[in-house]
Amino acid sequence: MKILVTGAAGYIGSHTCRLLTETGCQVVGYDNLSRGHQIAFERATGGGTFVQGDLLDTKLLQKTLKEESVEAVVHFAAFALVGESVEYPQRYHRNNVEGSASLLRAMHEAGVQRLVVSSTTAIYGQPEKMPICEDTPPAPINPYGQSKLDVEHLLQKACERDGLGFVALRYFNAAGAAPDGMLGEDHDPETHLIPIVFQVALGQLQKIHIFGDDYSTPDGTCVRDYVHVNDLADAHLKALNILKPGQRIQLNLGSGVGTSVLEIIEHVRQVTGHDIPAEIAARRSGDPPWLIADNSLAKKTLGWTPEYSSLDSILTSAWRWHQRHPQGYETT
Ligand SMILES: NC(=O)c1ccc[n+]([C@@H]2O[C@H](COP(=O)([O-])OP(=O)(O)OC[C@H]3O[C@@H](n4cnc5c(N)ncnc54)[C@H](O)[C@@H]3O)[C@@H](O)[C@H]2O)c1
Repeated sequence: MKILVTGAAGYIGSHTCRLLTETGCQVVGYDNLSRGHQIAFERATGGGTFVQGDLLDTKLLQKTLKEESVEAVVHFAAFALVGESVEYPQRYHRNNVEGSASLLRAMHEAGVQRLVVSSTTAIYGQPEKMPICEDTPPAPINPYGQSKLDVEHLLQKACERDGLGFVALRYFNAAGAAPDGMLGEDHDPETHLIPIVFQVALGQLQKIHIFGDDYSTPDGTCVRDYVHVNDLADAHLKALNILKPGQRIQLNLGSGVGTSVLEIIEHVRQVTGHDIPAEIAARRSGDPPWLIADNSLAKKTLGWTPEYSSLDSILTSAWRWHQRHPQGYETT
């Protein structure tokens, strides 16, 4: 199968490109490199076809889809920083929503009818009931979550109007790295807890701030559902294999297990053998105490099992990546 992957130079995109390539798919990477690393795509695919372009460039997308005879699209490209989205909501709407609308137009023109898309737990906002299942009413509380919900609405319209088949995969917290240490997480700025704790272990940061220790959770710190990036990649492959034109599928992708901030820090101490100085800070607004996936529908629909998502596997693989690449992809 020949697949166009948008956001192919990013964290989850590059891991998915690697799995797709390893399983015999031909991958065409499409990324404007605003936040990604071309070397990640090159390592993932062994030098696959790469087009540097923007989602908003409908003509280039259409030309690429046609010239490369693409059969399906996996769409990761987006901005994904909650804080930034609050500061610049228009930027998020333009990049994520208008960018996805441009991709859908190009696919329609080129006659490509199968699409797997990154969605997010952020579309649910702060639900009361845990674990979160797919029929929880969406109620995003920031422009990033809203932009992803708007994209899901665009997909539904394209499904009804043009017969597009899509799978929207709502990830919880992506984490971990390729077990051989070749690919990993390299964001600037880094806002995710696990890489930040490793930055403390490496002495790049003095301490970790824990935002609130008085939540209604067993140890008072926020609980999240961490899912290994390789398990996410595997779900995309499985989604591509089952997807048919005209179908519409929305699935939660999480491990189904909740881990608190304090548990992550303690586990990183054990994995690295380093002290991790930590300081309690004020709660951040909009941080729910718990976010845990009900992943039963994804398991049933895709025949998917999150095999790499134990805390040990996530942290061991991430530590290997950070040790080998303390400056991210800049480290050769
Ligand atoms: N990382 C997570 O925990 C997480 C959780 C839920 C959902 N997601 C979603 O998964 C997707 C991938 O996340 P990630 O962590 O790999 O992000 P990332 O920033 O590492 O990768 C995104 C890639 O998209 C590219 N890109 C952004 N806007 C573009 C545009 N207009 N045109 C072309 N390329 C563009 C960037 O250059 C980057 O390479 C995003 O859609 C994100 O919203 C991520």
